[in-house]
Amino acid sequence: MRLGSLLSLAYLLLPGAAAPSAPSWKFVEKGNSGIVGLEAIVVSPTLVVMFDRATNDPLHTPDGKVAWGALWNLETNKATPLKLLTDSFCASGALISNGTMVSVGGNIPAPADLNQTGAYDGRMGLRLFGPCLDPNGEGEGCTIFEDLDNLQMAETRWYTSTARIFDGSLMIVGGIHESTPFYNDDPVNNFEFFPKKDGGVPRPSAFLERSVPVNLFPRVFALPDGKVFMLANNQTIIYDVEKNTETILPDLPNGQRVSNPFDGTAALLPLSPPLYIPEVIACGGSTKSDTTPVEELSAQDPATSQCARITLSPAGIKKGWVVEHMPQGRMMPEMVLLPNGQVLIINGGATGYAAVDSIGVTFGPSNAANPIGTPVLYTPSAPLGRRFSQEGLPTTDIARMYHSSVCMFSGRNILLAGNNPNGNITFIPPGQPGEFRVQTLDPPFFNQARPTLTNVPSKIAFNQRFTIGIDIPAGVSASSIKVALIDLGFSTHAFHSSGRLVFMDFILSPNRRSLTITSPPNNRVYPPGPAYIFVTVGDTTSAGAHVMVGSGANPPVPDQGEFLFGAIVYSILTRAPGIRLPGL
Ligand SMILES: *[C@@H]1O[C@H](CO)[C@@H](O)[C@H](O)[C@H]1NC(C)=O
Ligand SMILES: *[C@@H]1O[C@H](CO)[C@@H](O)[C@H](O)[C@H]1NC(C)=O
Ligand SMILES: *[C@@H]1O[C@H](CO)[C@@H](O)[C@H](O)[C@H]1NC(C)=O
Ligand SMILES: *[C@@H]1O[C@H](CO)[C@@H](O)[C@H](O)[C@H]1NC(C)=O
Repeated sequence: MRLGSLLSLAYLLLPGAAAPSAPSWKFVEKGNSGIVGLEAIVVSPTLVVMFDRATNDPLHTPDGKVAWGALWNLETNKATPLKLLTDSFCASGALISNGTMVSVGGNIPAPADLNQTGAYDGRMGLRLFGPCLDPNGEGEGCTIFEDLDNLQMAETRWYTSTARIFDGSLMIVGGIHESTPFYNDDPVNNFEFFPKKDGGVPRPSAFLERSVPVNLFPRVFALPDGKVFMLANNQTIIYDVEKNTETILPDLPNGQRVSNPFDGTAALLPLSPPLYIPEVIACGGSTKSDTTPVEELSAQDPATSQCARITLSPAGIKKGWVVEHMPQGRMMPEMVLLPNGQVLIINGGATGYAAVDSIGVTFGPSNAANPIGTPVLYTPSAPLGRRFSQEGLPTTDIARMYHSSVCMFSGRNILLAGNNPNGNITFIPPGQPGEFRVQTLDPPFFNQARPTLTNVPSKIAFNQRFTIGIDIPAGVSASSIKVALIDLGFSTHAFHSSGRLVFMDFILSPNRRSLTITSPPNNRVYPPGPAYIFVTVGDTTSAGAHVMVGSGANPPVPDQGEFLFGAIVYSILTRAPGIRLPGL
């Protein structure tokens, strides 16, 4: 009999003996965000920008007005109000190549709220913040910049999506013109960019037209060749930004639909050298028909447990979507790429839909019900059928469904905020009031000795070798090391836009004290902009070190780095036509 079995026998025989508790994931409450953190983006190693609706949140700006933006300090767990001009409700955003955060789109403020917010129409809004890397990490003096006369989008967009693309600018996709309660019945079927391309004239999209009325917050990903994958409703394309052409890919199978208001989620899986062949996974949402009248929808309709995954090589596209299932159906889940290559699936509910009080049978004011408090870990490299696990994952009783957010940050733990099934903040119990409690989900190794990184350069070029110091705790085996370059993304409405993980090749010095790392080959594999380097050694991961990838110049930036090797190998292996070889 093995020692382990003897020990467990001993625990059975000895009443009162507690089993030694293995370190596990933990939810930890961290204070109060003052606004509903329905959008969140990590803007520095210590700071997160959160946005809500311009309505009746308890946080106030120094001039006595209600705030709807806040700077969350990850070290002090306190929210500082941010003064905004326009209503950022249900907007999107990202960091661009010069490190500035850009928030796009929003809503028309409710007249009843105007006396206490003073907010302007946010639908054409462009809100710039930072970069904010002040050495104290407190964000002192960092403000939101808005200019209603000179800095606006070409279209009014609510529920729009974004992705930072190969030239470091932001592609802005779709949305709805007005406030309507559920389906997209006033669609913005076009794309535009920040900074503007094409003289600011939006590009019409046949794909967005085809995917109405379940095409809000399209799931969009910048691919390693510079093209953009898009998923809306059950439909997918690859869009060539440079040629303005779309290539239609297979629909999601079995009726699965993943964009708002049937919110599933999707992620670009971690990219690995040397070929960086992209794979996309779409999980949860609904299999209801997109022509179901709203009166026939119920907050108790089960969400789908289906995940569909596709490899975006010619062979992978020919093979089509491969189907697998999460342990539960999930409406409004979100996926976070972890530095060891696993994907955390978190938040959402087992039944219902997104949006507020707008379907036949609601649960109180909520279109969804049965929140799922236990996350799931997905291991992309495990064999099909053995990729999902909830072992060692805790359960929280704080619902994170509609209007919630989740983001990993530099500490390598996960921040959770928001949830609000109401149109504004409802303080009166009973019911499901707006959620102000912030939590972290800490990984099992959080309080153990972890690798630490030193001398990380503040800026790295593409296709560059650079050396950093590493301190690997005694007793931690260095036999398995992973070096991940991560864009922590922008979280809202069950989508982590611009979230990206690129693994980097490295050599560990014989004395285990330094790592010589090779950065991504070019600006298409990692669109230029801010990132964090995380090093995973065995079962532990370092804190993330902030780096600027590329020149840090304002977008659009020219192609940088090396294009030849990967592209040639890729085209030989996959016989892909039309691979772009800049510089040839
Ligand atoms: C909150 O929403 C309700 C219902 O939509 C509305 O009657 C009320 O005026 C709103 N309150 C505030 C302070 O905006
Ligand atoms: C603003 O107006 C609403 C509705 O008209 C009212 O309920 C609220 O008390 C007012 N708030 C302030 C700060 O005047
Ligand atoms: C995708 O949705 C459309 C519109 O509802 C439908 O016509 C089509 O059959 C669906 N595709 C699949 C593969 O189910
Ligand atoms: C970053 O680039 C954008 C687009 O050109 C520009 O509007 C913004 O001012 C830049 N940020 C900084 C800090 O220069």
